Amino acid sequence: MSVSPERRRIKADFLIVGGGIAGYQTALDLLPHGSVALVSRGSIASGSSYYAQGGLAIPWRFDRDAIDSHIEDTIRAGAGLCDADRVRLLIEGAEEAFATLVSYGVPFDRDASGEILFTREAAHSRPRIVHAGGDKTGSLILKTLAQNVHGHERFTFLTPYRLTRLVKEENRVLGGLFMDENGEGWLEVLAKATIMATGGFSALFARTTNPPSQVGDAAAVCHRAGAVLERLAFTQFHPTVLDLPGGTPFLLTEALRGEGGHVVNGAGERILFRYHPEGELAPRDVVSRALWLEARANPGSGLYLSVTHLPGPYLKSRFPQVYSHCLSVGIDLSRDRAPIRPAAHFQMGGIRTDMEGRTSLPGLYAVGEVASTRVHGANRLASNSLLEALVMGHRVVRGLVSEPATRESVGEPTSREAREIPRTMVTVPPGRVTMKMIQTLLWERAGIVRFMPQVLSGREEIRSCLAMMREGPVTSEGALLRNALELSHEIFEDLLVAPHMGANYFLEDKPAEPGPSVQEKGQD
Ligand code: SIN
Repeated sequence: MSVSPERRRIKADFLIVGGGIAGYQTALDLLPHGSVALVSRGSIASGSSYYAQGGLAIPWRFDRDAIDSHIEDTIRAGAGLCDADRVRLLIEGAEEAFATLVSYGVPFDRDASGEILFTREAAHSRPRIVHAGGDKTGSLILKTLAQNVHGHERFTFLTPYRLTRLVKEENRVLGGLFMDENGEGWLEVLAKATIMATGGFSALFARTTNPPSQVGDAAAVCHRAGAVLERLAFTQFHPTVLDLPGGTPFLLTEALRGEGGHVVNGAGERILFRYHPEGELAPRDVVSRALWLEARANPGSGLYLSVTHLPGPYLKSRFPQVYSHCLSVGIDLSRDRAPIRPAAHFQMGGIRTDMEGRTSLPGLYAVGEVASTRVHGANRLASNSLLEALVMGHRVVRGLVSEPATRESVGEPTSREAREIPRTMVTVPPGRVTMKMIQTLLWERAGIVRFMPQVLSGREEIRSCLAMMREGPVTSEGALLRNALELSHEIFEDLLVAPHMGANYFLEDKPAEPGPSVQEKGQD
């Protein structure tokens, strides 16, 4: 669908792009300082935050020992690539982040005497994960934050819009130009600060836990405007994702293993102790790789998550979402084991920022999964992602409101280039490349285990698609494909700069089955 040339322009003190937990937390903190426009691709259920199950990791009771142990676990899980000083800032920010959520009314799960309940997840040396609604933590936090923002007189919510271009004057970002997803024209938002909170890009991989919108197009747009991206090779693959023929991958939270779940093969044997002394509670990258290697060594044996030894009533009340989803596809977790296969889940890398969310472009900030703060290293510790979104939301606002530019008035672009709305765009000719082809390519050549020849050929395939790009009509699909190709190219490039870093895992031998090429794959 091509886009009408109508343009609507609005001004706000602050522009936030993305309506997940990071975006809403940032909005809440910004509202005392000025007007906030939050532009989103859809409802709160369109991004990843809504689907976060496990919980929020906090160093309860926030004393020195609890903080140090949470820092140690984060660094150990991060495969040697965390920035230790930044990890400390993150974990030390947990007390404020948690207290803020409690004050807004997030219904964290408690026992009969009102004490907060904690669970354990993989690579945590102690239970420190708080949860809400059993396994509905993300949606309950997000709904609570959104309820506290919507209706505020300084808050404007704009949807369904997709970021197309940053508005820039010389090198300073003055806002964003958005395409109406319904093809009804353009929205330009000018602001003193533009904050990206658009999440990661795991939906660029064929098998993912993320909703389809998470293809990283906003990161690609920022990169085109000059923002530095980094650590794009560090994709986290979640090991326990439901695997049914033709079914959409569905996350089976790591808390199921934290509460005693087992990973077994077709013969019912627990296999993970062969790969790591902590078995089911080994770091996530280790478990995903173990499943990949096991499937290659014993094709057809099957791999399963089994919680049948846990009491059925407990499973239903502690994991209501997972339990009912599995039931809806014919698996009763109290009696049946669930077939599993890893899926792309989280991006440690993204737009490079400091710990106040500043990017390499003045006026542009990033918060949450879209940002690369280096707190997660090459493999994020479970349930540290919601923590990052909340803590960084607070930190970004504190840094932002102390900057002189936010005391000036909203800038107006003067150059013709910055003011013009696109009449045509550069993209691949219709039908030559599809999102599904790109997703298959990344899954097969930049997946859980990498092989150098495949990474090289993957990059070449992306390059040949990029070489097809021509000027054409402006369409939402065309913009998405261009962004996906450009970002995929950066991912392959990053894999080649740092092939053996941390959890970025390469095998030297030959893959069992070489992946089909983009050209061979055919149409969507
Ligand atoms: C999960 O519940 O297993 C996912 C939590 C996370 O990504 O940290």
